[in-house]
This record gives sequence, C-alpha cells and structure tokens, in this order.
Amino acid sequence: MNAPIPKNAPFALEEIEILNRVVGPASVHQRAWLAGFLAGLDAATVPAQVAPAARPAEPLTILFASESGNCEKLAGDMAKAARKQGLRPEIIDMADLDLGRLAGVRRLAVIVATWGEGDPPARAANAYADLMSDKVPALANVEYAVLALGDTAYAEFCVVGKVIDERLAVLGAKRVVERIDCDLDFAEPASRWIKQALNAFAPTDLEPRGTVIEVDFAHQAATAVLEPFEAEVIEHMNLNSSRSEKQTFHLELAFDGRAPAYKPGDSFDLYAPNDPAYVDELLTATGLASDDRLRADLIDNRDVTTLSLKGLEAYAQATHDRSAKDLLASGEARNWIIGRQLIDLIENSQIKLSAEQLRNITRPLGPRAYSIASSRMEAPDGAHLLVAAVRYESHGRTRKGVASSFVAERLRKGSRARVKLRPNKHFALPSHDTDIIMVGPGTGVAPFRAFMQERRAVGAKGRSWLFFGDRRFTHDFLYQLEWQEALKDGVLTRMDVAFSRDTPRKLYVQHRIWQHRRDVVDWIEGGAHLYVCGDGKAMAKDVRKTLVDVFGDVKRLTPGAAEQAIRAIERERRYLQDVY
Ligand SMILES: Cc1cc2nc3c(=O)[nH]c(=O)nc-3n(C[C@H](O)[C@H](O)[C@H](O)COP(=O)(O)OP(=O)(O)OC[C@H]3O[C@@H](n4cnc5c(N)ncnc54)[C@H](O)[C@@H]3O)c2cc1C
Ligand SMILES: Cc1cc2nc3c(=O)[nH]c(=O)nc-3n(C[C@H](O)[C@H](O)[C@H](O)COP(=O)(O)O)c2cc1C
Repeated sequence: MNAPIPKNAPFALEEIEILNRVVGPASVHQRAWLAGFLAGLDAATVPAQVAPAARPAEPLTILFASESGNCEKLAGDMAKAARKQGLRPEIIDMADLDLGRLAGVRRLAVIVATWGEGDPPARAANAYADLMSDKVPALANVEYAVLALGDTAYAEFCVVGKVIDERLAVLGAKRVVERIDCDLDFAEPASRWIKQALNAFAPTDLEPRGTVIEVDFAHQAATAVLEPFEAEVIEHMNLNSSRSEKQTFHLELAFDGRAPAYKPGDSFDLYAPNDPAYVDELLTATGLASDDRLRADLIDNRDVTTLSLKGLEAYAQATHDRSAKDLLASGEARNWIIGRQLIDLIENSQIKLSAEQLRNITRPLGPRAYSIASSRMEAPDGAHLLVAAVRYESHGRTRKGVASSFVAERLRKGSRARVKLRPNKHFALPSHDTDIIMVGPGTGVAPFRAFMQERRAVGAKGRSWLFFGDRRFTHDFLYQLEWQEALKDGVLTRMDVAFSRDTPRKLYVQHRIWQHRRDVVDWIEGGAHLYVCGDGKAMAKDVRKTLVDVFGDVKRLTPGAAEQAIRAIERERRYLQDVY
C-alpha cells in the first residue's frame, strides 16, 4: 500500500504526499505506535466534551439516468461528497426506480442525460414514461434538484432534464436549487451544482460527525485507470469492397505495455484532431489565415464544426452580425442550423473575427466513442475498433465527420492515436452457459466480435445467435469470413442476415427477427439475453417495436400485455442496448 492516505483526506495535496511518504512504507508496528500516539495527543490537548448524542445521518436519494456512464459517475461523486456533509446517500439507477417509493423520499437529487433525439437513456425509458403518466403519487414532501447532461449540438438540448425538472414541480415537489444544463464539458458546472445542491440539502443543525472519514476505496480503484493512453495503429483496413458506397475501417491498436483492462461491451473514446483543410477554410473566411498558433489550437483542441443555437447566440453577441441576430429574433435559427456547420455561419456573414472571438464561439473538442471489437483473451496487448466513415452532403457542401474521417483519411499503419477506456458494465456478457441473441447491423456488430472471441477463449457452453445487416452482401458484409469460421467451430450457433439493398423491398434485421419469431421467443423464454447495438435513431426503436409484435403474435397477447412482456425482460436486465 504505497499511498494509503486518499486524495480527499482533509489535508493539502502536498501534506497528503508527505503523509503518504511516511505512512506508506511504515511497518505494522510503526503504524500502531502512530495511532496510539495521535489518540494520546488528542486526549491531552482537546478539552473534554460531552459527546453529542449520536444522530442518524439524514437520507439523500440520488437518482440517475445514464447511457454512457457520465451521470452514473457523477451520482457516485455526489454520494461521496454527501457522506462528508453528514448525509446518507442512496444511489438509484432510474432503470430500477420504484415510483411508489418516490413520495416517501425527503431529498431527491436527479442527474440525467438526454439521448437519441431528446430521449432518455435506453434503460431509463420505462421509468421515464411512468414518471410522465398518472401513476405517479403526489410529491408534496419532496425537496429536489436536477442536473441535466447533454450536448448543445443536439436540437433537443438537455430536454430530459428539463422535462423531469418541470414534472417534479407539477407533482408538488419543491425545487431547492436551480437546474444546470451541462454541455459535453460538464465537469466544472456539475461539480458546482453538486456543491449547491448538497448545501441546500444539508440539515442546518448538523453537528460535526466525529473523526471518521469515509473513503470509497472501491470507487477510487475503479476510476484510477481511466486516463487517456497512446496506442500505435498496427492494422488499418477498409472492410467494404471498393464498389461499396461505404467505408468501414478495422483498426488494430497496440499499446506500450499491456492493453488497458477492457471487457467485451466496453468502448474506447478516441481523441481525434480536426481536418486541417477545414480549419484552413475557416481561418481564411475569418481573415486569420496567418495565425499559426491559432491554427494548431483549433485543429487539436476546439470543436470548429458543430453549429448549435448556443454557438449562434455567442456569435451574434460577439460580432453584432445583423443576419445572425435576425435569424435568432425571427425564430428561424433552430431550422437554419440544421445540416450546417460553423463555416456556413462565418461565410454567410463575412465578418472578420479576432483569434479570441473565434476561440470563444467554439467549445472544447470532445472525443468520439467506438465499441471495442476484440477480447483481451485473443488480443492481450491490443484492441480492435470498427469505424464507419461519416460523409454526407448538405446545403451544397461535402461534409465529413471529425473522428471517423481522421481514421479514414489521415490515420495509417504506424500512426499513433490517443484513446481512453469507457467501461460499460451494462452491456456485459452473461455467464458462459447463458444463451445470447445479438442484433448488430453495420458497426453495431463490433462488440459482438468481442463477445465471440471471449466466448471462444473461455469455451462457453451457451448458444449465440447473431442478426447482422448492412446494404449489400457482396460489398458490405463486415467480418464475413470470421462469422463463417465462428459458425463452423460452433462458437456462433446461428446467424441471420439482412442486406437492405439486395432486394427490391428493403430488408432489415427487424424483418429477420419477425421471420424467426417463434425461435426468438423460445430462446428468450429459455433465459437468453438479448443485445442490440448500433443505430439508435431508427434501428433500435424498430427492433423493440418488432419484439413487442413478436411476443404479441407468438404468445397471443394483447399489445399492452406484449409491451409488458418486453418490459419484464428489460427489468430483468436481459434486454440490453448500446446504441448511438
Ligand atoms: C457508446 C458508443 C459506441 C459507438 N461505437 C461506434 C462504433 O463501433 N463504430 C462507429 O463507427 N461509430 C460508433 N459510435 C459513433 C461514434 O462515436 C461517432 O459518433 C461517429 O463516428 C461520428 O463521429 P465523427 O466525429 O466522425 O462525426 P461528427 O463530427 O461527430 O459528425 C457527426 C454529426 O454529423 C451530422 N451528420 C452525420 N450524417 C449526416 C447526414 N447524413 N446528414 C446531415 N447531418 C449528418 C450529425 O449532426 C452528426 O451528429 C459510437 C457511439 C457511441 C456513443
Ligand atoms: C447518440 C447520441 C445522442 C445524443 N442525443 C442528445 C440529445 O438529443 N440532446 C442532448 O442534450 N444530448 C444528447 N447527447 C449527449 C449526451 O446526453 C451526453 O453525452 C451525456 O454526457 C451522456 O451522459 P451519460 O454518459 O450519463 O449517458 C447524445 C449523445 C449521443 C452519443
């Protein structure tokens, strides 16, 4: 134990370092002497006091709804801080929310993310719908505060947090702190909100709770590894044929030393720079083409592509540009920004900006997540990713996704990339003898390649069934040979594919699920876990709708009862989604 004194001990950081230098290597005997000495010192110097009557810590319920883990992590941070303020926090995942209990809650902190296009995180969807229904009891005795996480690039910015905040007020709960709506750089505003909320929730007559410092070592250990890593690209291959309209890259990363301890179902955040050609266009349009320092800063650190309502407002305020102000005043701004980027705004107004102004209207450049497509059992020193190049046309301009076009066009074998592990314990494999059904069209298939590698390595006995889909069999069958191999060696029991552009009527994975509905129900009723990964806008919703229909048809249930059957599987955490 080299650093036994935690960073949150009530000392300055340098003092903690000194203490760790002394206490870390101390022997058991030395530590016992120190403990006795300090106790004796206290007894001799602190005036005798009547011990305050022990009072139970006041409860605080922290409810979170999270997809990629940010809100869950903040809920943990808040709980830790709450304990230090004499509160007794209980963390509840919204997926497990018992609405009936809500009325009995005295203090409620809600930390929620918005996903899809204004949707709650997938596993919180049922509880969210219930919260909006008339099943909810009145909440007159509840004090609450809401922290909303989101991304200003989306039209429905933080809408789930906003809706819950209003809903709790309508139900009679008392808001004790104003909601904060956070963008992707949420660390500072979230920590400010946690402080404000805890101050508002803390009982005013609180006595100090003695000298016991509660330390959550398990949490510290879990977060300690989540630092960005440098990796070398040792394989970089387009899996689509040259005649495909798409490009999907298989990347193999090798780490200096062992790969971070990832599990099947986890992702990596990839830190990708902007396209220098795009930044040059932007600098030319702003009249700043000769500023090399600004150029380097924009390429590596600023989000120079997203155009959000907030960005447009910041631009109008900084430049007093008439056309931007008109767009905002007329209410047309929300529509105008759709399919446009910062470059369109700047070219449209032709105002020259200072370097400072340009920096200020952009936000920090964030990483992009990619599911890990390998198992450490097969790739102990590396990790594989599957990245689809995002390219599209809008408003007369060819556009490219920042990270995926970096992978497609500028990353090569031998290049280095920066990644950070994003664990996802909510998309993990079940026990080796449990059956699994995997629905993963397009890049959604990536984590299932990791699942299959892991199951092969451990000799899992459970059956595995993959539904895969893409545009065309001949051009877009990602990892085709590997699936065929897996079918041959039995690690994959069954595979059904849907190639949407090979048939006159578009055929998708949900159509295959419907076609094989009896077997699907058999597997699920036999205990299979169902995994869905990939597109969250249409595919995941269509698959869920189809599964409700499947249960309705095979089990002869009414639509309401079929919906309940699917909800039961979701509650049992056997219907798992990782969608984007
Ligand atoms: C948990 C998780 C796992 C993921 N796993 C994978 C994976 O395994 N493989 C993978 O390829 N991706 C994966 N993604 C998606 C990935 O993170 C990126 O979102 C994706 O690669 C696009 O990033 P980008 O930087 O290239 O594009 P960005 O620069 O982020 O641009 C994307 C934006 O461009 C706009 N846009 C895109 N297409 C169009 C269009 N046709 N018309 C108009 N506007 C459009 C939209 O506003 C969109 O949000 C995952 C996402 C998450 C959250
Ligand atoms: C595919 C996808 C869709 C998203 N949709 C929205 C959205 O509609 N509105 C919003 O404000 N944020 C949206 N976000 C941003 C998330 O809310 C944000 O990343 C948040 O920090 C996630 O928190 P979590 O990790 O707890 O799930 C989206 C993010 C992704 C990856």
